[in-house]
Amino acid sequence: MRSFITFEGIEGSGKTTQIQLLSVRLDRGGIEHILTREPGGTEVGNQIRRLLLDPANRDLSPLAELLLYQAARAQHLARIILPALAEEKLVLCDRYKDATRAYQGRGRYLPEDLVEQLNRFDLLALEPDLTLLFDLEPAAALARAQRRERTSSRDQNRFEQETLEFHGRVREAYLDLAKSYPRRIRVVDAAGSVDEVHQRTLALIGGAFPSLGLK
Ligand code: TMP
Repeated sequence: MRSFITFEGIEGSGKTTQIQLLSVRLDRGGIEHILTREPGGTEVGNQIRRLLLDPANRDLSPLAELLLYQAARAQHLARIILPALAEEKLVLCDRYKDATRAYQGRGRYLPEDLVEQLNRFDLLALEPDLTLLFDLEPAAALARAQRRERTSSRDQNRFEQETLEFHGRVREAYLDLAKSYPRRIRVVDAAGSVDEVHQRTLALIGGAFPSLGLK
């Protein structure tokens, strides 16, 4: 099934856990798909990801940051996403262009028309068929992200070190995007247990794509 589905949300919203659970569920149902993420998804993209998330790079300028995310995306689209869709595959992607709108646009105060000019540029123009926005109050989400770091001995990345106010702005930007694109973006209440959120996810994806047989 040729479709492009993205998962979005602030740090600690649970979207990565949820996209992985969906992928396992699709595997169980024998539904062919690829699971990928941004920034990343390619060797070059992963190198750019390390650079972008490394807390040592705290003086990265907002414009340099925007262009690096778009560079990683250009490579990802050219090498992974567009070829997979051309082969009629289902593509699940953990973050995509809405993250740039929310983090670089609203979070870093870059002009919206600059972000959108790049988003609309020919080879970057693809928009998802469906986006699930995992919405959670920033204080609860960051507490989740911190628990994850403690249990995985993973270090805080450059964005997790940002203030609660920054994450609040990013969350508001995501909710505004959901209002601007009501047909494409569906908001999922990300509070509750992993399984409760998984059931909400299955209901939404199953409703949007009945042929997946998820309900
Ligand atoms: P992740 O932790 O969900 O893998 O995402 C890595 C970080 O990159 C996360 O803090 C959000 C940020 N990000 C942006 O700022 N802009 C983007 O376009 C993307 C894809 C991610």
